[in-house]
Amino acid sequence: MERFELAVALVRQAGAALRQARLEADAVRCKTGHQDLVTVWDKKTEQFLRQGILNEFPADAIVGEEFPAAGDASPETVWYIDPIDGTTNFINQHRNYAVSVGCWQRGEPLFGLVLDVENDRLYHARAGQGAWCGERRIETSRRKNIPELLLFTPDVIRTFLEPGRDELLRLARDVRAVRSIGSVALEICAVACGEADLCVALRSCPWDHNAARVILTEAGGAVAAASGKPLPLNEPCAVLAAGSTEALELVLERYGRYEAPQQ
Ligand code: IPD
Ligand code: CA
Ligand code: CA
Repeated sequence: MERFELAVALVRQAGAALRQARLEADAVRCKTGHQDLVTVWDKKTEQFLRQGILNEFPADAIVGEEFPAAGDASPETVWYIDPIDGTTNFINQHRNYAVSVGCWQRGEPLFGLVLDVENDRLYHARAGQGAWCGERRIETSRRKNIPELLLFTPDVIRTFLEPGRDELLRLARDVRAVRSIGSVALEICAVACGEADLCVALRSCPWDHNAARVILTEAGGAVAAASGKPLPLNEPCAVLAAGSTEALELVLERYGRYEAPQQ
């Protein structure tokens, strides 16, 4: 089986298990603080995905949220896994969370998969072959007139209201509306399929955005560090995602360039 087919099968199986999952009261823990949670299901799901990948491709490396990086030190192929993106939603709502799996080879994207678990919507893209939601081809909105843009952000307070964010706050006032799902991967996919026009995620890790960024760029969108530099593959970063390169450039030009805040 090829990596893409394997990934689709594993992500679908992981999603099916998560839909059935019920959380016991003692199954939730704080990691770095009260806003950073992990459940037994985050760990179980990541272990399941890792095992499935390494059984077939033992030389590949895996960068996931819940366990230290595994595999070859200078690998040709690297997988980026977020077993549950939107853990707080998983705990409180049992919806609006995703399984995110991206795969890169020699620094170039191979594919990205983001499963919106409860809606059973699989966003997928292979490099050079367009972006899809299930069987439907998706593309970005291409809107670039600022007052018409719908902006998604995973964290409204920490994006706009911390000191030094005056320009981002001005952007929030200038766009049509600001919405928050609470999952970086789903927010970037919302831009990919044209449900949103822009996404600002100031605290994002490689496992949060590396699968969705493939889907976005295959859908005609553009992504960069909010500093304006290219989005790195292996470091946490403030991310700006837009429906087109023109929209991205316009926002950077008019609303400034941000360095990543401390994670
Ligand atoms: C988090 C979610 C959240 C975002 C955080 C992410 P997690 O991922 O995407 O919306 O604000 O920056 O870390 O912890 O649920 O996998
Ligand atoms: Ca995440
Ligand atoms: Ca996670």
